[in-house]
Amino acid sequence: MSSGLNVTICGGGNGVHAMAGLVPATGWFSEVNILSIFPGEGDKFSAAAAMQGGEVHVTRCKEGPNGGDVLVKGRPTKITDDPSVVASSDVIVFVVPAFAHGGYLGAIKPFVRTSGSKAPGGRVLVGAMPGGSGFDIQARSILGGEIFDNISLFALETLPWAVRLTEYGKSADVLGTKLVVDMAVTPAAMGKEVTTVVQHLMGNELPKLHTIPSQLAITLSLAYWHPTITWGCYRLWDGKTPFNKPPLFYEEVDQATGVMLCKISDEVDEMKKVLETQYQLDLTGLHSVTDWILRTYGDDIADKSCLHRMMNTNKGYQGLTHPMLETSSGKFMPNFKYRYLSEDVPMGMVVTRGIAELLEVPTPNMDIIIEYASEKLGKSYLVNGKVAGPDIGSTRSPQTFGITSIDDFIKKLRY
Ligand code: NAI
Repeated sequence: MSSGLNVTICGGGNGVHAMAGLVPATGWFSEVNILSIFPGEGDKFSAAAAMQGGEVHVTRCKEGPNGGDVLVKGRPTKITDDPSVVASSDVIVFVVPAFAHGGYLGAIKPFVRTSGSKAPGGRVLVGAMPGGSGFDIQARSILGGEIFDNISLFALETLPWAVRLTEYGKSADVLGTKLVVDMAVTPAAMGKEVTTVVQHLMGNELPKLHTIPSQLAITLSLAYWHPTITWGCYRLWDGKTPFNKPPLFYEEVDQATGVMLCKISDEVDEMKKVLETQYQLDLTGLHSVTDWILRTYGDDIADKSCLHRMMNTNKGYQGLTHPMLETSSGKFMPNFKYRYLSEDVPMGMVVTRGIAELLEVPTPNMDIIIEYASEKLGKSYLVNGKVAGPDIGSTRSPQTFGITSIDDFIKKLRY
């Protein structure tokens, strides 16, 4: 039965293809609109779907009885590049890489209602799946305090599915569905009610969304994972000899890399302690690296003796390789521009590092990885040990938005 709520799903990649089929198929929302502001994408998406009667077909692989596939067909109400479509939306969700959030926040700003929504508390829900580090910091900066204080802003810790679009505008395969996904809401008091609505965007009972008290826990989560493993793989490489094949991302992680991940996790844990004891924040949902991997993969891990062995022996990680570029002679060179550094450093580690600076918590190990990644990306995020320099404008650190004290940070972000 329809709730009478309208939703706009923003983006046009893998995740949006899944949702363009799954969400209308539930019948729970009155309107399910797709908005893509990426040049040409709205037209391309809508023309392709039109060739299939306006439907998007989603295969939930191996989710049927006896491990068979389930085909779900859904018909979005409107597929458009016009951001004014959100003017009647009660829920607006971004399903794009973090670097694209800013463009969407700016595009929807003139049209987001600050009252009269049918969503809980009369507040429009604006969120991101996944939110990534500092989504709320950027949202407040772009939307402004007045809108920020009158909407419910939500962020999921990750995308609920492993998904690949198979034919543009027409179909996608859901390869895997997570069992539980954490989400946080600002203001925190709206957490449970907002989660109940967002659960209907999953298109199924799984994953089960679990409300955690603060978006800061999502911000400080595991953004250092991919950059540290990248550092670990190439830290002793001469920078020029090509590889015969791409190294395995997790199965070849060595002990030193495992130790480095644990040290960075300890630095974040120190930040957590300060935030909880001195500022009384509740950062439930922020896990150490070892807790996180055990909680997420449990019995898929054969050797739980230490972190690098957990990664080496986790069934869920088998066969995954480092992103590489093939050379003309059939060999491989590292692709340092891949999102593991280009997204996870400016939209992840630098955000955490900026908050550590506000808290005056030293982060020598985090700094090693940020400096390493900065060099590989040709960027500068740390100057004389401070988050500063020409490239911090492309990050979501508090300093980027002119926030330079922890009290101001906590107050503005309503933690
Ligand atoms: P994607 O790579 O398919 O997204 C591409 C889309 O992003 C484009 O089609 C376009 O709509 C948008 N976009 C790219 N550049 C843009 C720009 N400059 N301006 C405006 N829009 C732009 O992303 P996908 O796979 O849907 O994933 C979304 C997020 O979820 C990403 O952060 C990804 O890392 C994360 N994720 C994805 C998983 C998956 O299985 N697809 C699994 C776990 C996380």
